[in-house]
Amino acid sequence: MDRARNALPPGVLSMHVLPAEHHDRDWDAIIVPREVKERLLAQALLVLQHGRKLSMLSGLPHGLIVLAGPPGTGKTTMARGLAQVAALALAREGATTLIEINPHAFPSDMLGESQRNVTRLLAETIPEIAALGIDEIAKKLPAVLFVTTTNFIQAVDAAFLSRADLVMRFALPDAATIARILESAIGELAVQWPALQPMAADRARIAELAALCEGWDGRRVRKLVLAALAQRLEVSRDPARLAWEDFFEAARKKGGVEWAGGVAPTSRELFPDVPKELMHDDDGHGHVHGPHTPVHTHQHDDDKKSRS
Ligand SMILES: Nc1ncnc2c1ncn2[C@@H]1O[C@H](COP(=O)(O)OP(=O)(O)O)[C@@H](O)[C@H]1O
Ligand SMILES: [Mg+2]
Repeated sequence: MDRARNALPPGVLSMHVLPAEHHDRDWDAIIVPREVKERLLAQALLVLQHGRKLSMLSGLPHGLIVLAGPPGTGKTTMARGLAQVAALALAREGATTLIEINPHAFPSDMLGESQRNVTRLLAETIPEIAALGIDEIAKKLPAVLFVTTTNFIQAVDAAFLSRADLVMRFALPDAATIARILESAIGELAVQWPALQPMAADRARIAELAALCEGWDGRRVRKLVLAALAQRLEVSRDPARLAWEDFFEAARKKGGVEWAGGVAPTSRELFPDVPKELMHDDDGHGHVHGPHTPVHTHQHDDDKKSRS
């Protein structure tokens, strides 16, 4: 149940009531050892389920999990996935609300401080919590879990870090993990273009390809699929024609572009046979004249906005 985007308070990116259909993908997408996921989930459930009792301990949990590591290693995806899986575990006891917050939207002096401040800030930001009153929040807090991600743990306030119940350090994927990410990414492609199914099952080629991606983060590995699809025009027009050569070329170019090659054809050499009736009469001021269907007019406008 998403609230309308413009109804959310500033700094709040999204609100979801979980568990929900179609929210399983995040957790499943991140390939890490089994123990890593289990530890993370156990930590979350411990606080969400038993926070009230545990708050009686001298070493009470702060309900804070920090996911740290280089960009593109799956921290944000894992945090989202954790919310769904924890909500699945607790579904019989009630719904779980996931609130995604962009801390950069908050005043800078609030950053890097303890959970108390984060809570105060939440109370100020989210009317539903504010409406409870500060004492109520304190009572309800044991069942609130904060999961935060950082690309640069050295910059995180030590007092904040010491309050974390768990600091999980993500690393760049090793060759075996890269291979599994590639397998997953190609598998997803094959769902859309079933002709690619044999590629998703070709372990030997995938391992060979993974070796070329050493040192890459998971995001870049997943993007290699897009780079492979964009190596040749004919493949970008018909992804079912994707070949291993496209993957190896894309990996050799490190997902980027090689500034080399012959003379590029002109636009009309590339696409000589677009009929005149599909050409729009564009006056350069956002107005479209002529015998065009509303559908075309709309697409044309969108195109122009995104290109200018
Ligand atoms: N270990 C991994 N296994 C599978 N996919 C990964 C992994 N690490 C990153 N990715 C993919 O990379 C993309 C970026 O992940 P994200 O969670 O935004 O990373 P971060 O928050 O660490 O920058 C996502 O599509 C994610 O699925
Ligand atoms: Mg992130």
